[in-house]
Amino acid sequence: MSDHLVKAYNSLPTSFTRGDGIYLWDTEDKRYLDALCGISVTNLGHNHPAVTEAIQQQASTLLHTSNIYAIEWQKKLANLICKLSGMDRVFFGNSGAEANEAAIKIARLYGHNQGNSDPNIIVMNNSFHGRTMATLSASGGRKVQAGFEPLLSGFVRAPYNDIESIQSVAKNNPKVVAILAEPVQGEGGIIVPDDGYLEALREICDKNNWLLMLDEVQSGIARSGEMFAFQHTNIIPDVLTLAKALGNGVPIGACVTQGKAAEVIQPGNHGSTFGGNPLACRAGYAVLDSIQKDSILDNVIKSSEQLISHLKRGLADHPDVKQIRNRGLLVGIEMKYNYQAFVMHALQRGLLLNVTAEKVIRLLPPLILTEQQTTDMAQQIIDCIHSFEPVKTSN
Ligand SMILES: Cc1ncc(COP(=O)(O)O)c(C=O)c1O
Repeated sequence: MSDHLVKAYNSLPTSFTRGDGIYLWDTEDKRYLDALCGISVTNLGHNHPAVTEAIQQQASTLLHTSNIYAIEWQKKLANLICKLSGMDRVFFGNSGAEANEAAIKIARLYGHNQGNSDPNIIVMNNSFHGRTMATLSASGGRKVQAGFEPLLSGFVRAPYNDIESIQSVAKNNPKVVAILAEPVQGEGGIIVPDDGYLEALREICDKNNWLLMLDEVQSGIARSGEMFAFQHTNIIPDVLTLAKALGNGVPIGACVTQGKAAEVIQPGNHGSTFGGNPLACRAGYAVLDSIQKDSILDNVIKSSEQLISHLKRGLADHPDVKQIRNRGLLVGIEMKYNYQAFVMHALQRGLLLNVTAEKVIRLLPPLILTEQQTTDMAQQIIDCIHSFEPVKTSN
């Protein structure tokens, strides 16, 4: 059917009408197993009872006032995020890109407050931080930048998972005020850094009085097996950005700060009309509350171990599989060839997943998987991969 949408997406024709738990149903009432969660958004599954109830109650009470007035659910959610992260303050926006915009503005203002009129931020090759002008300029992939030059200046690029290159920037660039990095690179292909990497970034930031800013838009909200992926280490960032699963489908983003980053933003420096409205914040509160009440972190650890061991066994003799990587239920199966056509192959077999960095089958399944569902999902993925014939060119 022709439509009047801007052609921003190459959307597949399949359209879903309802969801429940780990399943979605399309317009023909065909059921699909959702191993993607709308790219790590519906982490608690579709139609989660507590989240649905919170949204329904809030929708029938109050949707929006304005940040001109105090918003109680905003304060409640900020308190809970700070309690869970060990951080101090939260600014609410509506998306991951907005959360990162806030982080970039904080870093720049932090620099200006110290008399640095050209503050630089170290960003990583292969990273993804969003599609606004500042966040695409910060991102590492040329794909999101091409055609949108001039890019914002003030970003210094470094290879991911390479501490020496950061040390070398520290020696040579006195304008740097912050590092922005993903604790696990998502769009870049589920790249898990070496043990000690985040700790080393923290140490360099402390030595140079820089802010450590971690983008957990994809890795946060229990997906990694901790509420926030940085909690696999003993460090804490100065700035943490969240979005995606925080609302389990209700748009919300958060820029969380602590210590020297916490007092940078003052009245008049930043704002958002919708940011932190009662509906989004009440949904966010219900999400974090449910993660704790339903012992979701334990479930992620259990089901990710089970999923990975099934996948490793079932794909051990597959000639195209290069590596299986994960941090909790953030899972990447790197293939030797371009596997983008595999998405359609899986879709036709009732399985939702995607492919990132062209060769990495990305699985972001719901965090509520039971043992049986984990086994079934693993088997369905394995069968799909075995029945697929890729075009074997290495680029
Ligand atoms: C790590 C990371 N940061 C930022 C973003 C951008 O988030 P949004 O699409 O909500 O603006 C994404 C989206 O995939 C992401 O994975």
